[in-house]
Amino acid sequence: MKKNFFAANNYSKETYSLTQITLHWFIAALVIYQLVINSEIKLWYKQNQTGFEIPNYSLGAWLHIFIGIVIFSLMSYRLYKRVCTGTPPLPKNTYLPLRLLARLSHYSLYLLLFMMPISGFLGWYLEIEMLIDMHHLLSKILIALILFHICAAIFQEGVLGNNILYKMMRPQKQNLK
Ligand code: HEM
Ligand code: HEM
Repeated sequence: MKKNFFAANNYSKETYSLTQITLHWFIAALVIYQLVINSEIKLWYKQNQTGFEIPNYSLGAWLHIFIGIVIFSLMSYRLYKRVCTGTPPLPKNTYLPLRLLARLSHYSLYLLLFMMPISGFLGWYLEIEMLIDMHHLLSKILIALILFHICAAIFQEGVLGNNILYKMMRPQKQNLK
């Protein structure tokens, strides 16, 4: 059944599908790599800006660009899957403001995971400094959102006892696709 990305959720399955779970953890690993290991792309960009040395792509800089493009492609596929198959409902015993916050944080993560590669790629390729500044700023917002996301998952699991992690760990039998 097709579902609108923004529509209220009445998805009947209890867990994400195998594809959604695989994409979630694979993309999470790539994003953490990008956020932690980026000194070479920064150095390359600085060299390029100052023009003191002939800019030399290092492996690390190439990897940053390549992984950024991979994240963009996988996010597009993930968005397509989400629109087609939806997501499991949020736990019923969660207060409305918390549900809204959860939805809002998920949409913001989607938005940022598209804006990061777009701002990086266009800023780099078209040499628009403002976009690279934006890339820098967005990366800090993304870190804050991810930390919030992890704390929220731990809070749901540990304090509210919602058993939320299993939705993103093991697909139900009917969700093995
Ligand atoms: C870079 C790191 C991460 C990113 C970018 C990320 C991103 C996302 C996004 C966008 C969703 C919404 C999925 C959807 O509705 O289509 C989600 C769901 C979820 N994530 Fe993460 N995630 C990350 C790390 C983690 C970690 C470390 C945990 C475990 C502590 C986690 C646990 C979950 C759970 C349980 C859900 C399902 C929440 C629900 O449906 O109520 N995530 N994640
Ligand atoms: C989801 C994908 C991406 C993430 C999470 C990401 C993350 C980051 C981070 C954390 C930094 C360091 C920011 C700072 O502290 O100044 C950075 C720098 C940079 N990124 Fe990305 N990036 C992504 C994709 C891309 C892509 C696709 C490109 C280009 C094709 C790119 C080009 C750059 C450049 C040129 C810099 C250096 C900016 C500076 O030194 O101010 N990024 N990126």
